Amino acid sequence: MSTAREPDLRPGQSAELLKELHILTREGKLNQDSRRKLKQVYHLHQFIDQLLRELPEQDGGPTIADHGAGKSYLGFILYDLSLKPQGKGRVWGIETRPELVARSRELAQRLGFERMSFLNISAADAATDEALPDQVDVVTALHACDTATDDAIAFGLQKQARAMVLVPCCQAEVASHLRKSKALSLSRTPLAELWRHPLHTREIGSQLTNVLRCLYLEATGYQVTVTELVGWEHSMKNELIIARHTGQKKRSAAQRLRALLAEFGLEGLEAERFPGLPDQ
Ligand SMILES: C[S@@+](CC[C@H](N)C(=O)[O-])C[C@H]1O[C@@H](n2cnc3c(N)ncnc32)[C@H](O)[C@@H]1O
Repeated sequence: MSTAREPDLRPGQSAELLKELHILTREGKLNQDSRRKLKQVYHLHQFIDQLLRELPEQDGGPTIADHGAGKSYLGFILYDLSLKPQGKGRVWGIETRPELVARSRELAQRLGFERMSFLNISAADAATDEALPDQVDVVTALHACDTATDDAIAFGLQKQARAMVLVPCCQAEVASHLRKSKALSLSRTPLAELWRHPLHTREIGSQLTNVLRCLYLEATGYQVTVTELVGWEHSMKNELIIARHTGQKKRSAAQRLRALLAEFGLEGLEAERFPGLPDQ
């Protein structure tokens, strides 16, 4: 057992927040288990902090919108470790469950994290919500359910986000389309063997969804890195997609995306999921 004054904690870091996140015990202790958890939190924070450092200097500081925020621990960590020391910047948490929004508002008030706001709206509605500014620097979505990740991407594109950080959750939409056209696909291409069995339909649906998301981001002006959120133990979904805005829209990515949709019989998804795809 060790205490909150150990070097694991950073100067000025909120012990109260770490207790809320169950990293520190109520007595302020850090055990072996929680030290590992803290390392994971730092690991995720390090990716996003780097993106924040790459932003151009601006008076109000960086703006972050976190979709499917849940208990908002990502937003709280970013605020505590990146925005609080800067003394500027703002985090918006976007969450459909009102009790989680209320809890986050209460915690932010208790911690004195004044530049955090929590909106009880869906990721899909966030793009048109007047509480959010026209431009947002960083969009995050950590295990935002199903298509909420797609809504977060649409939000990021509309708000000209300079970066997006996405850890997708299970996604059912593509799998359900694959399921419907399975018989036809099996007769057309041996590749359909990849989704013949129901378990494979779900897995390839998820995999394909993320591949399409990456191509969409590349086609709309982002440079994409896909890596692993190592040791993120509360979920098996560890794929971390980091997109940085470059403004260079890759034509080949748009072509590949359309070709993949055609190959998998998913052309019907283009209008809804990839409306910003540049024309050929
Ligand atoms: C698996 S939790 C992840 C929470 C948090 N990001 C985390 O990693 O701990 C997903 C959260 O997204 C919320 N959610 C689901 N669909 C949403 C949507 N369309 N818009 C906003 N929030 C949504 C759920 O209520 C839930 O709190």
